[in-house]
Amino acid sequence: MKKLVLGLATTVALALTGSAQAQSKYPEKPITMIVPFAAGGPTDIIARIVGENMSKTLGQQVVIENVAGAGGTTGITRALTATPDGYTIAMGHLGTFSAAPATYPGLKYDPINGMQPIGLAGGTPILIVARKNFEPKDLKEFVAYVKANTDKVNEAHAGVGSVSWTTCTLLKGQLGVPKLNAVAYRGTGPALNDLVSGQIDFMCDQIVSVAEQVKADTIKAYAIASAERSPALPNVPTTKEAGLPEYQIEAWNGIAAPKGTPKEVVDRLVDALDKALKDEGVKKRLLDLGTVMPSATERTPAGFGALIKRDADKLSPTLAAAPK
Ligand code: MLT
Repeated sequence: MKKLVLGLATTVALALTGSAQAQSKYPEKPITMIVPFAAGGPTDIIARIVGENMSKTLGQQVVIENVAGAGGTTGITRALTATPDGYTIAMGHLGTFSAAPATYPGLKYDPINGMQPIGLAGGTPILIVARKNFEPKDLKEFVAYVKANTDKVNEAHAGVGSVSWTTCTLLKGQLGVPKLNAVAYRGTGPALNDLVSGQIDFMCDQIVSVAEQVKADTIKAYAIASAERSPALPNVPTTKEAGLPEYQIEAWNGIAAPKGTPKEVVDRLVDALDKALKDEGVKKRLLDLGTVMPSATERTPAGFGALIKRDADKLSPTLAAAPK
């Protein structure tokens, strides 16, 4: 009898060691983090800063792959339909996770019930930015000019369902000008190049990619659509200060994996993201670009999942009815 108990104990101990080994083995090869927009845009910038530090914690390279198209939904579809083993994850955002489901009826992924959130990587305030020599001098003039020139003004965005499209759709709704001449890009990185060279008039973009250009005075920013000014751009007024108080919207970027990713793998990714966001070097780079650092709750899968759902519930009715 004693022998049998000992035998059982040994078998259980071996099984536990085996599963602990399997857990501690992840990751055994590089991890692909899909960025669903072109290089040089806000999602790409955040993914590269955070991914570089996550690589150190995970002991494997986090490789950024830009898979642009269809407002970010092409890349997110690729990531969320991959094998759920932790080797393909995605950096998505307010657009791909909360807005796109309302704008693409046949979408092949479900951020609320069919995805494993990892955590929020950063809040990204929205700015209304324009080419440097665009006629309106401030937000009030911009509003009047756009209303008077709907057939002439060119707006850039990163595709239906993207953050730039979503946030400018809300802006146009408030101005009562649902449709302008829109130019769709594979990301706001390339759109910003055209804004700097004066080929388009304006866009609504996340602070992280435009902050440097605003500081360098190569483009102008009319206002930031947040309750407070950003420490990264203290001279840019809030929409409330500049005369359009009802235009308030916060964007964000965060990491997700396919549904069914094993818990121990999710835990490693959550831990690596948390460590990246606590790293002083990472924090400084993100803060300098105007990123809002996520709270302890928002860094968790549950906190990030709740944020995705909250914003999807908030945006869906307006976006579903918006002109595409
Ligand atoms: C990008 O990285 O290009 C942006 O996040 C696009 C957008 O959603 O506006």
